[in-house]
Amino acid sequence: MAASNTFHALTVPLSMSEKESEQIEKSKTPWVDLPRYPLGHWPTPLQQLKKLSAELQGPNIWIKRDDCTGLALGGNKTRKLEFLIADALAKNCDTVITFGALQSNHARQTAAACAAAGLDCQQILTRSVASDHPSYESGGNLLLDNLLGATTHIVELQDAKDFSVELTADLEKQGKHPYLIPAGGSSPLGALGYGTCAEELAQQCVEHNINPGVLIHASSSAGTQAGLLVGLPAVDLHSRVMGINVYHEDPDRLRSNIKTLCTSMQASFEITGQPLPIEVNHAYFGEGYGIPTQECLDAIRTLARLEGILFDPVYSGKALAALIDQITLGNFDDYEDVVLLHTGGTPALWVYDHLLR
Ligand SMILES: Cc1ncc(COP(=O)(O)O)c(C=O)c1O
Repeated sequence: MAASNTFHALTVPLSMSEKESEQIEKSKTPWVDLPRYPLGHWPTPLQQLKKLSAELQGPNIWIKRDDCTGLALGGNKTRKLEFLIADALAKNCDTVITFGALQSNHARQTAAACAAAGLDCQQILTRSVASDHPSYESGGNLLLDNLLGATTHIVELQDAKDFSVELTADLEKQGKHPYLIPAGGSSPLGALGYGTCAEELAQQCVEHNINPGVLIHASSSAGTQAGLLVGLPAVDLHSRVMGINVYHEDPDRLRSNIKTLCTSMQASFEITGQPLPIEVNHAYFGEGYGIPTQECLDAIRTLARLEGILFDPVYSGKALAALIDQITLGNFDDYEDVVLLHTGGTPALWVYDHLLR
């Protein structure tokens, strides 16, 4: 899909040769030429939520279905992992070590990607959420990790780094070649995955003849947002991107991580052009990471019943609650079309069932 860039409206001086203009195009969209290990079903649909728009009497609401990426119940990590797994294989690695919270969607998607690519998957998972649910340490994503054949190490958050150094050394002693993927897959290479999303979205906007005023999504390890901020202007989409902070007590931490990641992506892949402005909204964070707000739980129920679409209580449900609230407040009144990026996470529903009944 990524090779068909015909919708890029590049303004190239007439005197420029075809080769020169091709080079400019490549430097804007480096993800097109980098190796990807095929894991997902692309493009994910862009679907209109007519009933929700009618209910809120607001702009046309569209949902980009990255919960339907096709890899072991889907989610936003599939795009990042296509680049990261290709890199691991190119470096002749046979084992992936990655990090996350106990109910990490990233860890589950990584386990699935490793199974597909024939790699061993070692997960270092931390107790980042105080849950008294009886299945929190065995159900939801953890059940799937186990099913997908990953080895899970549960450690305290402050011990994760030291543990990874020990684990790497142990594996190397056994003759293995480990490849480290940071939490959320949010290295500069992983974040390029959201360049591919920007590209699909630009194509779909042309097909539907829309120009969304804002794109809203859950943000935590910065990769999705940084990838969009760098990727969208490269494909001539200049929508506002509103990241809903679901992880950091201090939203400035997320802002600064996004900034650093945008800069490293631009430097690592010689991406020309300015990223879009960083916008992080902290109003829907509630009491903390993994603690759903009442508005989030209400929004999950509303969308399930109104549109038959499932959201999760940790990430996408908070983004959905934010979208509903922003429309209700009239903050999106200037826009004809708005897009909610559904980043997945639904396997966590089973370890929050007591709050959703
Ligand atoms: C379902 C879901 N949505 C959103 C995010 C946030 O994406 P990012 O970590 O790239 O900011 C995550 C990250 O783990 C996730 O699992």
